[in-house]
Amino acid sequence: MGQKEGMKALKGKTVILGITGGIAAYKGAELCRLLIQEGATVQVVMTQAAQQFITPLTFSTITGQETLTETFASDSQPLKHIELANKADLFLVAPATANIIAKFAMGLADDLLSTTALVINCPALVAPAMNVNMYAKTVVQENLSILKRRGWKIIEPEEGFLACGTSGKGRLANLESIVAACRQALLPSDFEGQKVLVTAGGTREPLDPVRYIGNYSSGKMGYALAQAAKERGAEVTLISTSELPPPPEIDIVRVQTAAEMLAAIQERFSECDIVIKAAAVADFRPGNMAEQKIKKGDHKELNLSLEPTPDILANLSKVKEKQLLIGFAAETQDLLQNAKKKLDEKNLDLIVANDVNRKDAGFGSETNVVTLLYPDGHKEQVPKMPKLEVAHRILDAIRTLPGFKERN
Ligand code: CTP
Repeated sequence: MGQKEGMKALKGKTVILGITGGIAAYKGAELCRLLIQEGATVQVVMTQAAQQFITPLTFSTITGQETLTETFASDSQPLKHIELANKADLFLVAPATANIIAKFAMGLADDLLSTTALVINCPALVAPAMNVNMYAKTVVQENLSILKRRGWKIIEPEEGFLACGTSGKGRLANLESIVAACRQALLPSDFEGQKVLVTAGGTREPLDPVRYIGNYSSGKMGYALAQAAKERGAEVTLISTSELPPPPEIDIVRVQTAAEMLAAIQERFSECDIVIKAAAVADFRPGNMAEQKIKKGDHKELNLSLEPTPDILANLSKVKEKQLLIGFAAETQDLLQNAKKKLDEKNLDLIVANDVNRKDAGFGSETNVVTLLYPDGHKEQVPKMPKLEVAHRILDAIRTLPGFKERN
């Protein structure tokens, strides 16, 4: 995949989605919808057992493609499995039963799905879903290990309440994680081996035990960056003040204040290769936090005395060695001049200038519009797009920096 395509990994791709016979088969319908929303063409192949749980018509209706169930459906197309495999960019089986996993592992080919699996030449993923005891069985685990060794990606099931009335590991992974794994399988692994630290959200500086000074940052841009770096193979730590749930498979460290954020970064800084500071850090905090809730009746008027917080990026730039430092400039006026000043003063490798006045950009919004400023003076405008795509554009830019070292 080339750069500057916004990294819409699934756009224009053909996904063969295998549905096998477990109760989670019904979730396949929603999974189809999510994949289509990402721009994929989804071709569903169902096993006989899957059709006991959900009908082919459901999938044909969602995908706009005839759902395939038979190897020899018509005399005119006896080589359906070859045709299917040739057009596939991605082969995904969700939910995958113990039976289909065993067939894949052994190379058995007795229906359209297992036959197609023997012909494909594209990334293959399975998302197992079954009873907890069945999933734990040595034979199932060994079959999964065989697939892993052959380069298949296993999307681990979750722990939780199962249809059989028990609880444990065996529930189909959540659909967002499955889509993320699909995206990851199609994206280049150009950040593999990189340790990336991302900060997200607005800091909260306490006034008293129940109040704080904060800002409107939601953390969405930082989360998108963490997810994008993970999708491209990085080892990501997200240091966040946001209460959003972390993206799949990302280590999250929750902090509140600028001082806590600084400490969390310092602890990890020597190990990491890239720091992306998407967080909106408070510049001032109350000089003294009141020990008890401030009572309205005790004051006619209330003057707050504020003291500066540490400037995290400025601190890091003084001690940095190999690390690349990427900052954000959240501005309401003179966007590029202010951003350039921060780039120089904080000795950054790249700054992302973000006009936070716009409704479709900056704090809380699902999309962003940014300009990337480089130390050599050149700049690059990134038009309005979803934050995850902006994140991929920022990663594309980081790859071009002189200090970026390939690690795979
Ligand atoms: N930043 C930081 N520590 C601070 C303040 C900001 O590390 N105490 C980082 C932010 O995470 C961001 C960059 O510095 O990556 C610029 O933050 P911004 O709030 O736009 O600018 P400030 O440097 O705080 O300057 P000003 O508030 O005057 O615009």
